[in-house]
Amino acid sequence: MIGVLVSGTGTNLQALIDARLPIAAVASNRSDAAALERADAAGIPNRTFALESYADREARDRELAEWFQLRGVDLVVLAGYMHLLTPAFLDRFPDRIVNVHPSLLPEFPGARAIDDALAAGVETTGVTVHYVDEGLDTGAVIRQEPVSVEPRETLVERIHAAEHRILPEVVTELCAH
Ligand code: GAR
Repeated sequence: MIGVLVSGTGTNLQALIDARLPIAAVASNRSDAAALERADAAGIPNRTFALESYADREARDRELAEWFQLRGVDLVVLAGYMHLLTPAFLDRFPDRIVNVHPSLLPEFPGARAIDDALAAGVETTGVTVHYVDEGLDTGAVIRQEPVSVEPRETLVERIHAAEHRILPEVVTELCAH
């Protein structure tokens, strides 16, 4: 069963839902994430684990991991989750946590990857699905797809379209193992 971590709009979560993947739980660090409404609409248990409600990051991550494990989660997908995870969470799901990121990593890690690629003037950027470790977008790459920057008016749309196609494909493969 899959647990999905979100912070924002949740279009990647929606792509996983639409692919009929077995999502047991959705968790967010923000109670105002629109992604939680998508989980509600799909009837998926969801909960907010706001950092402010815990003594520290480890305490939050421990409770989050426990909540996922209680729901039978054995594969975790970060779909626009904008916090780093600590070993309190990572050690519970060894080699079973993946993230989608809007660049060809290791280029342009972080929260502003598309803007950073535009500012750097590259001709090609893309999408990466990778394993998650303690670093910022640093884990081993599973799959990448290049996306040309031009026409730049549609770059964001084309990157998201690539994410929404690749992420469910990779997650489907990982579910089979
Ligand atoms: C996606 O583009 C995802 O790749 C990016 O946040 C967006 C979330 O959109 N993640 C990162 O930048 C992680 N470093 P969504 O909430 O609509 O899925």
